[in-house]
Amino acid sequence: MPVTVRSFAKINIGLAIGPARPDGFHELATVYQTIGLHDLVHVSIGRAAASSSVEVTSQDARVPAGETNTCWRMAMEVMRAFGRRGSVKIDIDKRLPLQGGLGGSSSNAAATLVAIEHLLRKELDAADRLQIAERVGSDVPLFLVGGAVLGTGRGEQVFPLPDLPKMACVIAFPECGISTPQAFRDWDELPTRAGARRTANPSQSKLTEDPPSDRIKSFSRTISAWLGRSHTGVSARGRNRAEALLLDLVRTGIANDFEQVVFLQRPELVRVKRVLKQSGAGYTSLSGSGSSIFGLFSSTTAAQDAVVHLQRRGIKARASSFLSREEYQRRMLVAQK
Ligand code: C5P
Repeated sequence: MPVTVRSFAKINIGLAIGPARPDGFHELATVYQTIGLHDLVHVSIGRAAASSSVEVTSQDARVPAGETNTCWRMAMEVMRAFGRRGSVKIDIDKRLPLQGGLGGSSSNAAATLVAIEHLLRKELDAADRLQIAERVGSDVPLFLVGGAVLGTGRGEQVFPLPDLPKMACVIAFPECGISTPQAFRDWDELPTRAGARRTANPSQSKLTEDPPSDRIKSFSRTISAWLGRSHTGVSARGRNRAEALLLDLVRTGIANDFEQVVFLQRPELVRVKRVLKQSGAGYTSLSGSGSSIFGLFSSTTAAQDAVVHLQRRGIKARASSFLSREEYQRRMLVAQK
């Protein structure tokens, strides 16, 4: 009997890129937030066999079938961890954009883990789950937590944050994919930031802005300040919790470093962000390394109106909202009929 899991998307509320590490990854700090848009991942396990095999299919021909697929690697890891052998079949109903900055393939991998646990009626230890997830990809662990999550290290060190108010959002899907490794390489090449720092000698370093690790520190301070303010109840000026949080988010200047490289190369994304702002978004940003751009709204109606505004201007967009941790975890498994 196959099991179906909703594989939800994430957005990044701010992202600071730190130094490149000897292992080829970059230090980063970000706040991930899961949202209601999702793929569907169907998983079944055939009879026990001498060794495990994994087959990945999708209605979207661009989804890789073999071991380059995160679901393939996750299935192999989880079967091994349980000491089980069998043929695992995974079918991905792809609805999220590929290379869209919404964590689609990482989320698909986390959904595969949840599905296999459900099918085998066994659960891995929480620490083992996270360790397997981080081997599969930097963005996978966040999808084992859900809700608002602080990500550090290469993004794989995840810390659950208190739930943010349930904010309405609009995701705009420009028709281009962005390669994350390429975006990191482009960041390193930026003359006035990372690139200058990499070759910095004492006289040059005076010209650079923040050293890369300070950049992460100052981002963490900004995020703490943003989250630390009281956003409870309705303020004297009649703002609700979502509106107050939105306003503070804009005031603190939380931003995504990837915009500095991605917008240079894809100027059409600057227009998408501008149209999203014009449509009434309180805060707009690239998600991850893009190409998706999101806008936050203080009401569902405002978000729905914005979708119409964007679509009239030829930009694909969908409205959604933040998923709390409880909602995220509860809604993952699709009830069997
Ligand atoms: O971990 P994941 O497989 O998603 O990373 C894909 C690639 O993105 C890495 O091989 C690396 O080139 C780049 N990356 C990075 N720093 C990070 C995360 C990813 O340079 N923090």
